[in-house]
Parts: sequence; C-alpha cells; structure tokens
Amino acid sequence: MGITIKGLGYYTPNKILTNFDLEKIVDTSDEWITTRTGIKERRIAEEESLLDMAYNASLMAFEDARLEPKDIDLIILATLTPDLGFPASACLLQAKLGAGKAYAFDVSAACSGFLYGLEIASSMLITGKSKNVLLVGAEKLSQIVDWSDRSTCVLFGDGAGAAVLSLDGDGELLASVMRSDGSYWEILYAEKCGYIKMKGKELFKLAVRSMAEVCEEVIRKVGVSMKDISLVVPHQANIRIMQALAEKLSIPMEKVYSNIQKYGNTSAASIPIALYEARREGRLKRGDLVLLTAMGGGLTWGASLLRF
Ligand code: UT7
Repeated sequence: MGITIKGLGYYTPNKILTNFDLEKIVDTSDEWITTRTGIKERRIAEEESLLDMAYNASLMAFEDARLEPKDIDLIILATLTPDLGFPASACLLQAKLGAGKAYAFDVSAACSGFLYGLEIASSMLITGKSKNVLLVGAEKLSQIVDWSDRSTCVLFGDGAGAAVLSLDGDGELLASVMRSDGSYWEILYAEKCGYIKMKGKELFKLAVRSMAEVCEEVIRKVGVSMKDISLVVPHQANIRIMQALAEKLSIPMEKVYSNIQKYGNTSAASIPIALYEARREGRLKRGDLVLLTAMGGGLTWGASLLRF
C-alpha cells in the first residue's frame, strides 16, 4: 500500500509573454532563448494572485479526484512567491476552499518544493496521521523577476499545479531521495523583497550532476533499471538540462516529458503542471513507473519514483 495521486489540476494565467515580446523589453532574441533554453513563451499573472492560481488548480484536482475540500485533512503549498509575508498561503487557500478539517502550511524549497511536499505528504499518509492531502505548487515569479536583466527575465513564468493524495488507491511512492546544500545559496537567491539572482552556468552543471545522482540512487533503492521507467518528469528549468540529464541516465528523450516551451520555469509549479499535461496527452497512465526530479535554490534537490 502506498500513496496514490488521486487527482491532478493546474492553472496558468491567460496572458502569454512570447520571446518576441521580450525582444522589445531587453537585448535578446527568440533564437537565443529557444536554442539556449527551449522556451518559446511563458504565462504572466497580471490579474491573478498566487492564491487565485492555487485555488483554481486545487478545484480542478478535487474534481479529478472526486473528492471535496471537506475531505482533506492537510494542505501543503510549495511556493517562494507568497502573496503575504505571513500567514502562509496554504492557510489562505484553506479558507478559500472551505477545507474546514485541514491544517495548512507552506514549504519553502524553491523548485524542489513539490517533491519536498510529496515526501512530507507521503509520511503523513503512511503513518495514518492524514487521510487525504492537498499538495499545491504555485508561483508568481513575474513579481520577483528583474525585467531589465536579460540573463534571468527570459526564463521564468507563473502558474500553479495541484495534486490530491491519498492511501486509497493502487499508486505507490516507491522511494525518494531529498537533498539540500545551503553552502551554495548564492548561486540562486533573492534578497527579501528583491529580484532573482542567478549564476546560470554553475547552476546548470550542478543541476545535471545532482539530479542524475539522486535519480540513480532512487532507481538503485527500488531495484529497477532505467529501462523500466515509463516517463521522467523533471523540473522544467532548461531543455538542455533535461537533455544532459537524459544522456547521463541513458534514457531516450522520448521518455522525458517537457512543456517548457509553453511555460518557462515555474519553479514549484512545474512538476505538477507537467504531470497533468503528460497524463492528458496519454503519456502517463495508471501503473506506470514515473521518475520525478528537481533542483533549485537552496540548493535543494531530489528524486521520487512513483507507481502512478
Ligand atoms: O530552476 C532552478 C534551476 N535553474 C537552472 O538550473 C538554470 C541553469 N542555467 C541555465 O539554464 C543557463 O545557464 C542559462 C539559460 C541561464 C544561460 O545559458 P548559458 O548557455 O549558460 O549562457 P551564458 O550565461 O554563458 O551566456 C552566454 C552569452 C553571454 O554573452 P557573452 O558573454 O558570451 O558575450 C550572455 O551575456 O549569452 C548572453 N546572454 C544572452 N543573450 C541573449 C545571456 N542571456 C541572454 C539573453 N539573450 N536572454
């Protein structure tokens, strides 16, 4: 018996910012962004708050799970862009959903937030302390992007993804490995109320190496081989990172899911949005072995192997 993703949902703002739009804002080109990152466009929350995005994604996940907010006893929201300093965005979401039985808190683990949340949710479910958990990754990165810095502003976007998790199903979280190393904090950070600062080249190399290590560790733990994996759903930071990771793991790119061209890097939201879209496109089915991996500010990183 293990945890099942009973429902998935997502929300992305209607406003699309294309590479051509960015050409008018900073000294960049569609050609550079496409070849260096794989991104063609991203969504920008002009009217939506973080709470609006998290709420819409959650409603969709509840409908998919055939459960209601009152059935949930824990809400975990992963974000690095909350609407308020405090309280936690998860508490605002709990109130808006009317999830009266749930306690709620935020997780701050940047791009690894959804995986960290999955790890916590899984522990609460397996120990019987929770029955149904709502896990959300939501980001409004456009508010902490320096729109005059071409080295970062082309990369990020806004959105939210949600999952309803429960023990009541055939799915299983087979193994996971989570890591942090705070000594690298200056590679990717934002000061309080400041903009994202990033050492892209160093982060690129660390991302490939660290995600490959934890993916291999998780595979070893479970005793399966890379050939058994149906789909890898990595955090969507750069298509070249995903390609380098696939090469290191000897996995063909056909088995690596990517929607970065549409959304850019949405940090904690990227994996749940990708899971939703992979399933919608028929690339993820019940019983499949799916490998999730992420790396981000902290540094934080991890991998989880699921039977979906
Ligand atoms: O979500 C957390 C994880 N995030 C990541 O892992 C991101 C990791 N890093 C990356 O994805 C890549 O390092 C970037 C996409 C950020 C940058 O790609 P790169 O191939 O490492 O480029 P670079 O930083 O080495 O820059 C190459 C050149 C530079 O010009 P010079 O010095 O060679 O003349 C940059 O100034 O490209 C220039 N450049 C740009 N040119 C046009 C940097 N940004 C842009 C831009 N448009 N937007």
